[in-house]
Amino acid sequence: MILGFLGTGHISSSVIEGIFKSKLKFKKIYLSPRNRVIAKKLSKRFKKIQISKNNQQLIDKSNWVFLAITPRVGEKILKDLYFKKNKKIISFISTINLKKLKENTKNKNITRVIPLPFIGMKKGPIVIFPPDKSVKNFFKHLGKVVEVKSEKVSKSFWATSSFMAPFYNLVSATSDWLTSKGVNRKEAEDYTRELFLALAEDAINKKKLSLKQLVVESQTPGGTNAFVLKELKKKKFYKVQQKVLNSIFKKF
Ligand SMILES: NC(=O)c1ccc[n+]([C@@H]2O[C@H](COP(=O)([O-])OP(=O)(O)OC[C@H]3O[C@@H](n4cnc5c(N)ncnc54)[C@H](OP(=O)(O)O)[C@@H]3O)[C@@H](O)[C@H]2O)c1
Repeated sequence: MILGFLGTGHISSSVIEGIFKSKLKFKKIYLSPRNRVIAKKLSKRFKKIQISKNNQQLIDKSNWVFLAITPRVGEKILKDLYFKKNKKIISFISTINLKKLKENTKNKNITRVIPLPFIGMKKGPIVIFPPDKSVKNFFKHLGKVVEVKSEKVSKSFWATSSFMAPFYNLVSATSDWLTSKGVNRKEAEDYTRELFLALAEDAINKKKLSLKQLVVESQTPGGTNAFVLKELKKKKFYKVQQKVLNSIFKKF
């Protein structure tokens, strides 16, 4: 199988990193010439990668074409490219829906996928819409596949994927607070990274408990965790989170 990535930015780099770490079998990966710096770096690192002359050549040479361009670029360039009927198109584009993708590419064989940067470590959820056996079999090598049957539901997952920066900001603010209390910055950052890593791993290891039960289990009645949780709830911290999710949902 020959794979082609239209757009060589952050997410293409992560997916390609994951592919090379996995046991997936493929003959070659074609990259579009943009971003040239990243494309060159990847082609130097992996022998099976080749930079194509232009976007159309990449499409013509690949069996599967991954759309990893921004929505604005997609709106601009897709309708002028030709996708033969036998191509499989995997779109990572956040805000171009399936109907529009079909119109723009004049191709029906399209799956929308939400990869996240940790796909480079073969970790994290990967949402696929609509369900497709071959796409699932491909991405199961790169993370935990979640198949959804409705585009509206897939949009809800897109909304939650916008919680990467807010999550890191929570981690960063926790570390900053430690620093403000006199802890050396590196020590504060190392501690905070370990704390949040352990919490996330614990949540995975305790899958028998619901997330709500985890919240209960991690606090002693009247204890410090109970106090902080109650204060944050009182200040509408979590209500604001739900509101923001509703706002971002409307953008998908
Ligand atoms: N980053 C994520 O975590 C993530 C997760 C899920 C989905 N996505 C989606 O994936 C898409 C790409 O995101 P990204 O973060 O990887 O963005 P990015 O880093 O900006 O990459 C976009 C790439 O498209 C290239 N490009 C621009 N114009 C082009 C053209 N005419 N032909 C071919 N390539 C062109 C850019 O090249 P230049 O640098 O030369 O302009 C760049 O390499 C977006 O639709 C995004 O919603 C991203």
